[in-house]
Amino acid sequence: MSLAFSSLCGHFILLCFSLLLILRPGQAYEGLSDETLKALPRPSQEFDIHNGAILSPILQTRVPGTPGHDAVLDHLVNYIRTTVPNWELELQNSTSETPLSRGKEVPFVNIIAYRDPPGAPVGDIERLTLVAHYDSKLTPEGFIGAIDSAAPCAMIMHAMRTIDAALEKKWAAMREKGTDPAFEEERGIQVLFLDGEEAFEEWTNTDSLYGARSLAETWDQEMNPAMSTFKTKLSSISLFVLLDLLGSKSPNIMSFYQTTHWAYQNMGNLEQRLRSLGQFKSSSTDPWFIDTSKNSQQVVSRGGIQDDHIPFLARGVDILHIIDFAPFKGFSPVWHTMDDDAEHLDMDTVQDWTMLITAFTAEWMELEGFLGHSETVKARRDEDLVEEAIRLNKKTEL
Ligand SMILES: *[C@@H]1O[C@H](CO)[C@@H](O)[C@H](O)[C@H]1NC(C)=O
Repeated sequence: MSLAFSSLCGHFILLCFSLLLILRPGQAYEGLSDETLKALPRPSQEFDIHNGAILSPILQTRVPGTPGHDAVLDHLVNYIRTTVPNWELELQNSTSETPLSRGKEVPFVNIIAYRDPPGAPVGDIERLTLVAHYDSKLTPEGFIGAIDSAAPCAMIMHAMRTIDAALEKKWAAMREKGTDPAFEEERGIQVLFLDGEEAFEEWTNTDSLYGARSLAETWDQEMNPAMSTFKTKLSSISLFVLLDLLGSKSPNIMSFYQTTHWAYQNMGNLEQRLRSLGQFKSSSTDPWFIDTSKNSQQVVSRGGIQDDHIPFLARGVDILHIIDFAPFKGFSPVWHTMDDDAEHLDMDTVQDWTMLITAFTAEWMELEGFLGHSETVKARRDEDLVEEAIRLNKKTEL
């Protein structure tokens, strides 16, 4: 056998093998059922603005380099350690001068938490990445930043717990069937709570996005192990979902990028389904996702809004920017004012957002059948048993 022929043969085998991988069952994209959407857990007491365990500790001033900032950092870290202890937790630290620091270096701490299928090679997993910033703006003095972005942080925290429980169930079910999630599952999930998003003086390329700029640069250079599917931690991000300025009533969310319009539409469709199933408490005459019925050609990519996604976008990461903004109204009226406080949050909207983010993530992670509700899961098991019985019956008939 000539060398050329043997390598051709090798290619052919590889091709067959890849086809097998592509065609293997269970890979088909499965949307969430109505039952699952109806059973999604809704945050309640934990989102109380006065003493709710998740949200209320974030509702304080948290300017980098101040005690309030460190308290919120601790809160987020403790939540992750205690609520989703199987997640990897990392802090990515950097320092920078700011226009007001008089030559002193201000510390910035990004919080990174991720969960991969157990045993999976770290460089072969791509991670849906949910992102919000946890710092608050220095001025006006006493600024709380409830929509900017205390509430988005809380939404992600709540979603993490639901998704984690469902992932555990999914992987346990895989093992039960004799498949190993380490090899059969290529999706992980990641959360970034970024620091130093706000400008200290006035928004410029250097006075803003301190945490995001540092992390994007670091991850662009940090290589995954040799032979990994994904070269860097940056390329391990399948989609960067940035939540910002959410928590006011009747938000308007635009689609900003043609390349991720399909993901935008998935979330817009879930919004409509949750609403028509009566799962949303907030009333709204118009849909939040105003561009859902547009096709991707009609999406005008405008580099317009400066936010934490920019350093990642510049390095080719796919972005879904979920921010309450529309040309006909601008940002929420409370934006960057003293009115952006706990009392001005529309709690029905905050809770609805949490359900929507959870649903989107669950669909992405293919968690149908594993979410919460034991009755839903049980009903599916019963269906499976009936199917199995029918199959066996057929066999005996033959
Ligand atoms: C990063 O900063 C945090 C909080 O200040 C600190 O606890 C941690 O030890 C630092 N990590 C590293 C690797 O320096």
